[in-house]
Amino acid sequence: MIGRWLRYLFSGVVIVLIVIQFFRGELPEPQSRPATDLLATGEVPEPIASMLMTSCYDCHSVESKYPWYSQVAPTSWLVARDVREAREEMNLSEWTGLPKRKKIKTLENIKEEVGEGEMPLPIYLTIHWDAKLSAEQRKQIVDWASAYQDKILSQPEPDQDNEEEDEDEENGGV
Ligand code: HEC
Repeated sequence: MIGRWLRYLFSGVVIVLIVIQFFRGELPEPQSRPATDLLATGEVPEPIASMLMTSCYDCHSVESKYPWYSQVAPTSWLVARDVREAREEMNLSEWTGLPKRKKIKTLENIKEEVGEGEMPLPIYLTIHWDAKLSAEQRKQIVDWASAYQDKILSQPEPDQDNEEEDEDEENGGV
């Protein structure tokens, strides 16, 4: 009796798993590294660049790598949502287009998330063991982000978003 019910249940689960494969969700399309990417600037030294690549870039860049299980529902739903949300919050592939104050803010957020061990997302670490950051690695990233903030602050603003520049333009620019 129980054996038969288990067989029904099992068949039911298999059928559901097959049917949901027709609704896998759209994984944001992976692309190769654009020139606007943070790591393309050459301003991120090793080993920081490798750590960001291994621990953050699947979600926070256009270079997402999708292992097979992320192509299969229901995992694909979770992955698609995480990557979409992560890119919305912070897409490091669009780095050079950010105004100076946005770069400073982003680095501040990175310091916060990494410093507190909030990122990478815990669910990601259950599968990507190599993405786990040790306390020492987290400190290296936080220290780098602070130094990079100082460097950016000391540079002249190349973006048009700068308010002073906008004023200059209004007051007599073209
Ligand atoms: C599995 C996907 C994934 C990985 C890997 C990942 N993140 Fe995130 N990250 C997210 C998602 C989703 C959000 C938005 C929701 C949230 O804040 O939890 C986010 C948000 C953030 C934010 C914005 C928080 C805010 O206050 O606006 C920062 C900064 C961040 N991540 C940094 C990192 C860094 C640095 C790494 C690598 C060390 C990393 N993340 C790895 C998925 C990921």
